[in-house]
Amino acid sequence: MHEISTHPVPEDFKANALVNDELYQQMYRASIEQPEQFWAEQANKFLDWRKPWTKVVEQDFHQGQVAWFVDGKINVTENCIDRHLADRANDTAIIWEGDNPNESQNISYQQLHDKVCQLANGLKQRGVNKGDRVCIYMPMIPEAAYAMLACARIGAVHSVVFGGFSPDALKDRIENADCQVVITADEGLRGGKAVPLKANVNIAVAQCPNVHTVITVERTGADIASNGDIDISYNALCETQSRRCDAEEMDSEDPLFILYTSGSTGKPKGVLHTTGGYLLGAAISHKYIFDYNPGEIYWCTADVGWITGHSYIVYGPLANGATTLMFEGVPTYPDASRCWQVIDKHQVNIFYTAPTALRALMAQGDQYLTTSSRQSLRLLGTVGEPINPEAWEWYHQEVGQSRCPIVDTWWQTETGSVLITPLPGANSLKPGSATRPFFGANPVLLDPDGNELEGAVSGNLAFKGAWPSQIRSVYGDHQRCIDTYYTTYPGYYTTGDGARRDEDGYYWITGRVDDVLNVSGHRMGTAEIESALVLQDAVAEAAVVGYPHDVKGQGIYCYVTLMTGYEWSEELMQQLRSDVAKEIGAIARPDIIQFAPGLPKTRSGKIMRRILRKIAADELDTLGDTSTLADPTVVDDLIDNRVIPK
Ligand code: WTA
Repeated sequence: MHEISTHPVPEDFKANALVNDELYQQMYRASIEQPEQFWAEQANKFLDWRKPWTKVVEQDFHQGQVAWFVDGKINVTENCIDRHLADRANDTAIIWEGDNPNESQNISYQQLHDKVCQLANGLKQRGVNKGDRVCIYMPMIPEAAYAMLACARIGAVHSVVFGGFSPDALKDRIENADCQVVITADEGLRGGKAVPLKANVNIAVAQCPNVHTVITVERTGADIASNGDIDISYNALCETQSRRCDAEEMDSEDPLFILYTSGSTGKPKGVLHTTGGYLLGAAISHKYIFDYNPGEIYWCTADVGWITGHSYIVYGPLANGATTLMFEGVPTYPDASRCWQVIDKHQVNIFYTAPTALRALMAQGDQYLTTSSRQSLRLLGTVGEPINPEAWEWYHQEVGQSRCPIVDTWWQTETGSVLITPLPGANSLKPGSATRPFFGANPVLLDPDGNELEGAVSGNLAFKGAWPSQIRSVYGDHQRCIDTYYTTYPGYYTTGDGARRDEDGYYWITGRVDDVLNVSGHRMGTAEIESALVLQDAVAEAAVVGYPHDVKGQGIYCYVTLMTGYEWSEELMQQLRSDVAKEIGAIARPDIIQFAPGLPKTRSGKIMRRILRKIAADELDTLGDTSTLADPTVVDDLIDNRVIPK
């Protein structure tokens, strides 16, 4: 175990930072003690409104109801594009770096405006109206950002589905939100390999009769099967459209997007975010957490299929008039120096990535760092999972040459923007800690009975009071929103994470307390993987748990009971692994599958996952009491045949 050292804010960084410790304390206090006044000021400072609100916030956590800037009118794209045109039309909005290191492109704010308006007009021509849902299943190309913004321009609600999801997962999401239009590309390109996006869309929409339009960007020019009448090429649709499209006047609480995420039960939920509050949360957090100054080059390596891509590649940076870099490829192609090469090539100042990527790159050795200078870097960030101190120190010392603070940002799809994080000019850093709450975030640690715990303790992480970019509903199922986030601890928003607070008031996220896995920073429900397994003819029952994994953070460990008549074999196991990948997507491919003649169940038939987790993690000495099991002997068999991860 690494000894954890505290890193004070570097003096020169502090001198130029937007927020120092004193200002942080002052603003934080104001945000908690007088939230209405604080947020009204920020909403005027960060955003342009067409009409002012009549009330800053309305909230009733018992009903899962939150509304910000009530009756205020605004359009997201006017804030992300139009208002920057007067002074900065020719400044770069998006730097696009292709999978192929020889391909890149700078898109100015004017060009962004024109592209977004053309697609917005194209969508209108295909009958898309305010409130209609549009599915975006795209690679990391500028058209993905154009598509999101074109929807926002006309008040359509986008639902971006990560390009790594299978046709089935895509179909479920198209159906759940009743999307009638899908925007995609012929193929994606990642690490030199083609990803068959349009082919997947064809399979999905064959089962979605309501889809009347599929718009396809020609990314690779591959010869792809057509769907007949519903197909139209992106170019054919947009080329002839006007470069002007009046922005729709939206209510602050009109939906902006739906984004599916995994929970502990059932199918993924469509997290619904709305307009004014979400954009404010994305903009203010991007500005202060990344200490963003005009002209700086900012790069977030996430995919737009995840919330990080929404808030910190597209909406936050563009609302602030920033230059945001969008990367099509992977950190290890052509080799593990790629990120550092891109940083030098585009003179990136701020770099934001996931711990899993850092651990993978660290494992490849420092020789991949020496081919770049990285002198342009000023600030580093991480997101998605706890960062282990070893990876933190490597990031700090080797990547950032001990010069750049690291912001370890904690948040969730549902929170819309970062809620726990250092501000780089204000907080000393402790490797592995997300440190302190951001403005407006009031974290508490609760015991299992819902009592608030004081001082240096561990507990269930929850939040008191509303913040602007908070989830508004689960699309089509508001009760599920109430049940998931507001029922366990009435009066609070429950995160599903555990955390420890230390004597300095710093927060250390300890991981999920529910049946959600975090595999390479991707959130996945064990229930989803179990359903994919039991869909297979050979499988009678399945239980899935996470176990500690050096690179991925958590690996996927499955216990599977076979139907009578099936024999366990290496071949069957490999088959099941690829069946799951096919059913959900490659990110869900199990690492380990163990044959289990029986699963440990209570007398009422509930699977005791605690025991399965301990066996998977090879922590047999803390297995706990097994005497309440219906058949305690199944545990011995599971232990004898456990697979110890390499
Ligand atoms: C985890 C990603 C520790 C956490 C933005 C949370 C983190 C889940 C951190 C949300 C962090 C995210 N330190 N854990 N800095 N950031 N998490 O919805 O368990 O994909 O609940 O949003 O990721 O994942 P999601």
